[in-house]
This record gives sequence, C-alpha cells and structure tokens, in this order.
Amino acid sequence: MTNNLYRPELMTIEDIREETPDIRTYRLAFRDPEVRRGFSFLPGQFGVFSVFGQGEAPFGLANAPSEEGIVECSIKRVGKVTTAFEGLDVGDTVGFRGPYGRAFPVEEMKGKNLLFIGGGIGMAPLRSLLWHCLNDRAAFGDISLLYGARSVADLVYKAELEEWRARGDMSVLLTVDPGGEDAAWTGKIGFVPTVLEEVAPSAANAVAITCGPPIMIRFVLATLTRLGFEPEQIITTLESKMKCGLGKCGRCNIGGSYVCKHGPVYSYRELLELPEF
Ligand SMILES: Cc1cc2nc3c(=O)[nH]c(=O)nc-3n(C[C@H](O)[C@H](O)[C@H](O)COP(=O)(O)OP(=O)(O)OC[C@H]3O[C@@H](n4cnc5c(N)ncnc54)[C@H](O)[C@@H]3O)c2cc1C
Ligand code: FES
Repeated sequence: MTNNLYRPELMTIEDIREETPDIRTYRLAFRDPEVRRGFSFLPGQFGVFSVFGQGEAPFGLANAPSEEGIVECSIKRVGKVTTAFEGLDVGDTVGFRGPYGRAFPVEEMKGKNLLFIGGGIGMAPLRSLLWHCLNDRAAFGDISLLYGARSVADLVYKAELEEWRARGDMSVLLTVDPGGEDAAWTGKIGFVPTVLEEVAPSAANAVAITCGPPIMIRFVLATLTRLGFEPEQIITTLESKMKCGLGKCGRCNIGGSYVCKHGPVYSYRELLELPEF
C-alpha cells in the first residue's frame, strides 16, 4: 500500500448487484497488480471507500477473504457518498483505504457452535465471516443463521440465502417484520429478537455473532442473555461516525475506545465495560 496513509488505492468496479431497492453490492479489483497480490483482510474488517469528487465513507468488507485482491461491499443509500456510489457503473474507478479495524476472533470460535444473527444491511460483515467458516467447515460445530429484514424485498444476498439453505451442513431461518411478508413468503414473520427468543438456541459451547441496526442489537443482546449466553459468548460489530479510520482523528470514540481501531468488532463483555454503551 502507499506511504501516505490517507491516499487511496485505485479499484475498478467489476460487477454491481442490486440487492434491494436501496442496497447494491459492488465487486472491486485493485488496479495495481502488485497491490492486488499483496492485499489481504480478515472478516469483520472494513475499508474507507471514496467516490472521487464526492467524498469517502466506511463500509464493511463483505466477501470471503480468500479471494485474492478482490473486495466486495454492500452499500445502502442514506446520504451524499452512498448516493454518489449509485451513480457509478461497471468499469468506473473508486478509491479504497484499508483494511482497517479488529476482525472477528475466528481462532477462538473454532470447535464452537456458531449462531449468526443478522438484520438488514448488517448481513454484510456476517457474510464475510460465514463464507470464511464454511470454507473451513470442519473447524466449527453447528452453524446456524437467523436473518431478518423489514420486508421480503429488503433481504440481501437472496441467491446465497438459498445456497446456504440448500447445504446440508448449516441451518438458515429467515424472518421479515410484521407486514413485510408477501404471498409467497414461507419464512417467519416477526422481529429478529422475538424469533430468536422463540427458537431459543442453546448457549452450550456456542458463540453468537450479531450485526444489524443498533435497536436490533440491543434487543438481541438482552435476549441472548436471557437464553443463558455469557457476555464473552456474544460478538457484535459497531458503526459509529468515522473520518480517518486510522485511530488518529478521535471522531469515532465511545468512551476511551476508538471504534475504527479497537473495533468495529467487540464482545458484549467489552461493550459492558465501555461507560457510554
Ligand atoms: C465500520 C463501519 C462499517 C460500515 N459498514 C457499512 C456497510 O457494510 N454498508 C453500509 O451501507 N453502510 C455501512 N456503514 C455505514 C456507512 O459508513 C454510512 O452509511 C455512510 O458513511 C453514510 O455516508 P453518506 O455520505 O452517504 O451519508 P451522510 O450524507 O454523511 O449522512 C446521511 C445520514 O446517514 C447518517 N450516517 C452517516 N454515517 C453514519 C454511520 N456511520 N452510521 C450510521 N449512520 C450514519 C447521518 O447521520 C445522516 O442521517 C458502516 C459504518 C462503519 C463505521
Ligand atoms: S475515525 Fe478517526 S479515530 Fe476513528
């Protein structure tokens, strides 16, 4: 990578996939073959992506880290930079800084039953971790995914959800908020924490990994606690406003913790020790 920490590498958009009415997944490849060969990341890490002339914003790295020199990110349109992304096409160039942040503790998860709990666009970092674990399937116990969105149209990675469901070595449970179902819907109807409580997974030898809207995460943490999960058995990722992504500007702090550097992955035990959480 470059000597100037703030200078982005150039990446070409190789593919764009419409996930939902307001979320697209971008597949990006480094322009410089040397950078492409030397690049690696771990699930849970993020990058700072730029649309030239418009600005930059952090997004989770959403693909399996095994793909050499390739980065995928799923972007939900909310404001200036995310809207600028929607104006881009295959073949266009974007900037990338990263990978940044602390990854999921994959080594500590080995031998455990993994419970993935995602909501909306929060499925992006979970997708990276899930593929990473499926690529090393024998290293983990049972793998289950509970994923929910506001409506059927708002579910991301629909083709992969089907692929994961068809595999014999993991379970997939989908839910949509009440009113978000359509005539063909065969999944659950209810908020993610409610369905989690109903399903009541065992905490024995398990790790729960959750990512989604902050309100969902709060209820999921409470539900998992009621189900007997200890705070160290629960892993989540936080999103805060960021600027540098490098632990230098202080924009992202929660108490004494810089989310860009000490996070974005935290155990619930670590979050309980943050004064402002
Ligand atoms: C570590 C990390 C990983 C992220 N991963 C993803 C991802 O995979 N996909 C994705 O779509 N988004 C992700 N985000 C959120 C994303 O960075 C923001 O949506 C983006 O910065 C908004 O930029 P904007 O210029 O379009 O919006 P702005 O014009 O800056 O703001 C529009 C609105 O979005 C709100 N907003 C801005 N930044 C954030 C933020 N960080 N979190 C919550 N609300 C915000 C603003 O308060 C405002 O209401 C992540 C954020 C972090 C910190
Ligand atoms: S974004 Fe600058 S310190 Fe975290």
